Amino acid sequence: MLRARGGWRALRRCASLPRARRAVRLRVREALGAPEPADEVQVQGWVRSVRSQKEVLFLHINDGSSLENLQVVADPSLENRDLTFGSAVEVQGKLVKSPHKMQNMELKAETIRVVGPCDIWSFPLKMKKRHPLEYVRQFPHLRCRNNTLGSLLRIRSEATAAIHSFFQDNGYVHIHTPIITSNDCEGAGDLFQIETSNKARESAEKTHFFNVPAFLTVSGQLHLEVMSGAFTHVFTFGPTFRAENSQSRRHLAEFYMVEAELSFTESLQDIMQVMEDLFKTATSTVLSKCPRDVELFHKYMAPAQKDRLEQILKNKFVTISYSEAVEILKRASQTFTFKPEWGCDLQTEHEKYLVKHCGEVPVFVINYPYDLKPFYMRDNEDGPQHTVAAVDLLVPGIGELCGGSLREERLPFLKSRLQRYLDLRKFGSVPHGGFGMGFERYLQYILGVDNIKDVIPFPRFSHSCLL
Ligand code: 4AD
Ligand code: MG
Repeated sequence: MLRARGGWRALRRCASLPRARRAVRLRVREALGAPEPADEVQVQGWVRSVRSQKEVLFLHINDGSSLENLQVVADPSLENRDLTFGSAVEVQGKLVKSPHKMQNMELKAETIRVVGPCDIWSFPLKMKKRHPLEYVRQFPHLRCRNNTLGSLLRIRSEATAAIHSFFQDNGYVHIHTPIITSNDCEGAGDLFQIETSNKARESAEKTHFFNVPAFLTVSGQLHLEVMSGAFTHVFTFGPTFRAENSQSRRHLAEFYMVEAELSFTESLQDIMQVMEDLFKTATSTVLSKCPRDVELFHKYMAPAQKDRLEQILKNKFVTISYSEAVEILKRASQTFTFKPEWGCDLQTEHEKYLVKHCGEVPVFVINYPYDLKPFYMRDNEDGPQHTVAAVDLLVPGIGELCGGSLREERLPFLKSRLQRYLDLRKFGSVPHGGFGMGFERYLQYILGVDNIKDVIPFPRFSHSCLL
């Protein structure tokens, strides 16, 4: 048996090989897209439907390579009791033009081998049933075999590659920032502390494994700042952890963050331009590389989202200052649970209103009060209302998608705020800034998915760590 990585091209190359070695293994996606019929093809996957008729047996096979299934047409004599929905099969036969308009090719089976049977009675997924996302969430080990999660995970994979390409194409160096750290970059919210499994010994010896308390990182920013002091443009894209005691539809305890840091940057606009370009480039790539998978979300979860996204990709994002935002909120006819007041944090209800007010498009809110933001944000030295050069990007349906700022590169300004950070400012300190984008919130937004738990393979949140 030949394993064809290059799919159709490999099949053509093999046509001249001795007969016994000619069967070529194709992914479902390759078989569906094959330009012409072929003898001796093998496809492996999981059965999505079985329909047995007097004259013919129909199967639909999926192997995760595409949303579409491959139709297998077989003689009823090939049926056996293990050939059920959910079973893993290996089918060998001829790839032929399909008489159906909706599909290009189908496989006429000569042999069907059940590699792994499936007990359909206890299998939680049912044939041809559209299961609600809340239902499949209970089965983190099986939900990847459901169409919605299948599409989501292919999109997630493409979006990850698109984000890496965006930065690599623009001259950024990718840095693996550590997951274990002794820093609390944000200084807001709870962290997960790391201990060895032998807690008793640690407490008897009154020492930590690392000699200092260590935590799971909440952000790679401080490590990126170190690296931007040598490479100027750097990025990281990894898991971050926050002990948020929240069941909200936009918070996880473990989520992926894309972060960038740029040196020799004196303007917040430069940082905002990178955020906007990143969003637009990654989104156009996802829309063009996974049209069918994206369509599934837009059709069933967020009708009209495709048109809205296309409009957004064409237009410049809106920018307002925090002070303007508070004025807009104060003038609103809507009554808020949290009264908008200069100096108070924007709540989700405020973010939603602002986005609506600006026409349901992404909105940059800049220059937040000094007292609201972390120590590292650059003082705008303005008055009487004291602000920092911070930016949040708000998007419809989600709220905050990105948070960033210029960093305080001036030693005297920082001295009053944090000792640890100071060395970086003594040795060739330059103006710099950066941002972080929550990857799950990004996927939620572009696909119109209501709950963040449905855009990550294995969601972790308070009271839940399945698998
Ligand atoms: O605004 P945040 O806290 O910014 C930082 O951590 C900066 N140090 C990043 C930087 O400048 N390098 O987080 C960035 C983004 C948020 O805008 C949000 O999209 C996402 O991370 N985020 C979460 N996503 C899911 N679950 C959570 N608990 C999240 N907390 C933040
Ligand atoms: Mg933030």
